[in-house]
Amino acid sequence: MVAYGTKWGSTADVAKELASVLGKKGHHADLLDLGKDGLADLEPYDMVVIGSGIAYGSWAKGAVRFLERNSKILSEKRLAMFACCGDLLFDPLKTDEYESKYLREVARKHGLEPFSLGLFGGVIDFDRHSFLVKGILSMRNAGKKDMQEKGIDTDKPYDFRDWEKIRAWGDGLLEDD
Ligand SMILES: Cc1cc2nc3c(=O)[nH]c(=O)nc-3n(C[C@H](O)[C@H](O)[C@H](O)COP(=O)(O)O)c2cc1C
Repeated sequence: MVAYGTKWGSTADVAKELASVLGKKGHHADLLDLGKDGLADLEPYDMVVIGSGIAYGSWAKGAVRFLERNSKILSEKRLAMFACCGDLLFDPLKTDEYESKYLREVARKHGLEPFSLGLFGGVIDFDRHSFLVKGILSMRNAGKKDMQEKGIDTDKPYDFRDWEKIRAWGDGLLEDD
């Protein structure tokens, strides 16, 4: 099972790619959009991969609800967790800190011990967001000016999902096979 929470859609593509990587290795993976349907029966699955996009420092609501509801069964499964975030773009040297905040802390809070963690970049699209959200993004040091200084054209959505890294992580999930 590859389950994901997303607010703006970029994590859905990552989840699909992970399911496709698992599929190419001969394992069928069901995809579950936790914003739409958080009531799946996890019993039949050998492995659960769960991830979310990060907004305002947190996982998407549906994904958090899913972790809360299923913490017991998830703690008994082979579990891998991933997150798509914006912070990686602005300060890649702090990867450890983000991994801790967006993955290790989330796992610990729900009593989970994932065997693998994947931290990926996401998509930032300034024109898509309201004036208010743009203001919040700027306060988070993810402002238009910062991006322009880094040579990024903020008139276009900036997609910094690293598909090679995502596929490699997906491949690694089956290493013990
Ligand atoms: C309003 C807003 C708040 C965000 N907050 C954070 C944040 O706190 N930390 C972070 O690393 N990225 C943050 N991001 C970047 C998102 O994590 C990134 O856009 C990600 O791709 C979103 O995933 P989704 O499209 O699946 O919802 C934020 C983006 C927006 C638009």
